[in-house]
Amino acid sequence: MSKHLLKTDSLAFSLIGAAHAVALVRTGTALPQALAHIFAKTNAPAATRGAIQDIAYRTMRRWGRVETLLGLLADKAPAPALLHGLLSCALALIADPDDASYETFTVVDQAVTAAAADSDIAHAKGMVNAVLRRFLRERDALLRQALEKPEAVWNYPAWWIDAARSAYPHDWQAILREGNSAPPLTLRVNRRAISVADYLQTLSDNTMPATRIGPDAIRLEQPVPMGRIPGFDQGLVSVQDAAAQLAAPLLDLHDGMRVLDACAAPGGKTGHILESANVDLTALDNDPKRLPRIEQNLQRLQLNATLEVGDAGADGWWNGKLFDRILADVPCTASGIVRRHPDIRWLRRKGDAAQLATLSARILDNLWRMLQPGGKLLFVTCSLWPQESEAQAAAFAVRRQAIRLPAPGQLLPAANAEKNHDGLFYALFQKPAV
Ligand SMILES: C[S@@+](CC[C@H](N)C(=O)[O-])C[C@H]1O[C@@H](n2cnc3c(N)ncnc32)[C@H](O)[C@@H]1O
Repeated sequence: MSKHLLKTDSLAFSLIGAAHAVALVRTGTALPQALAHIFAKTNAPAATRGAIQDIAYRTMRRWGRVETLLGLLADKAPAPALLHGLLSCALALIADPDDASYETFTVVDQAVTAAAADSDIAHAKGMVNAVLRRFLRERDALLRQALEKPEAVWNYPAWWIDAARSAYPHDWQAILREGNSAPPLTLRVNRRAISVADYLQTLSDNTMPATRIGPDAIRLEQPVPMGRIPGFDQGLVSVQDAAAQLAAPLLDLHDGMRVLDACAAPGGKTGHILESANVDLTALDNDPKRLPRIEQNLQRLQLNATLEVGDAGADGWWNGKLFDRILADVPCTASGIVRRHPDIRWLRRKGDAAQLATLSARILDNLWRMLQPGGKLLFVTCSLWPQESEAQAAAFAVRRQAIRLPAPGQLLPAANAEKNHDGLFYALFQKPAV
């Protein structure tokens, strides 16, 4: 972050912080990493970090509209990237007439203050002022013109909108809309530590209204920072989407089974498997930097697994003993979890689904060899694209003559009173007994 003397509790400070993060996303950095990089360089208090994060996430959810508007308001792309980021963040806060979270004139004033305070873009403070004030003056006409472009209406790249429309001719609009909503905070109760009823009581005692939305799943009415979740540090609960909580029950686990969690980091489903039964679990991931996350999660939950770094598509790490159950939560485009990661849509490319499908076919074929006859393999993606999910599952079943058992298939993202979960895909296979 460049040097400036803004007060950490000012909107200008948060705007410039978010602008740095958005500028990094523009160069291909994922938003969580961009924010971590920025937070590491500032001693801003937690509330300011929260505000920076909020603005950056809002900007990602409105980037299609903001970029279209900037194209109408400026002759050429604003440079340097920080200036572009600042204008994007400011516009994102005022571009939706239905959202009054930020007072428009305050945003303009603070964006100009932020520009003036940063030596890299101070020369452009007049331009920031002119662009944002023109937007306010001509807002209706500019929005009308911008909304002729699907990217500005839906806030996704054009290819993504086309892909959703072609895969889901009836549901594509609802799917895109859900992807722009703020996700709920869903917890998974660790049944080894506390019952769901007792944990609900704990939440009620802390005046945190919540609803049970699955066997172990509780949704808080108001998301709170991790540090405020009762019993989190003691392992009473974990943060996990309700759809992701379907994996462990589908595996049909029994005490004493040998289980492989093949693409395990950061260990969300690993923890649930171990909470469900006394199994001998191997948690594998090919990214050594992500393995400590599994370790931390299991330590917090006071559970144990054998952790391995290795490629699930090869067998260098394997001791040759067959598994009774295998979870293959394969790498994918993550198109089903964009409400939690609104930057993903801007970072992915059209060809990614095909490349990832090739990788996960290799992983599935390899894991199948490691499964006991009669054993079950659960294939999971957090993708909406059939190429990575149902088409992959159907082709695999034919290729390996796998028995297909009942499973939810494609779950579309949902955010209504009864259901609130991400878009995941589940297919369950059984190896014929010999
Ligand atoms: C969807 S995430 C898994 C999420 C995890 N199961 C959970 O519930 O927290 C996919 C994981 O697969 C890992 N991965 C990617 N390619 C892999 C490979 N060839 N072998 C093993 N793991 C791989 C990634 O590092 C990533 O951690």
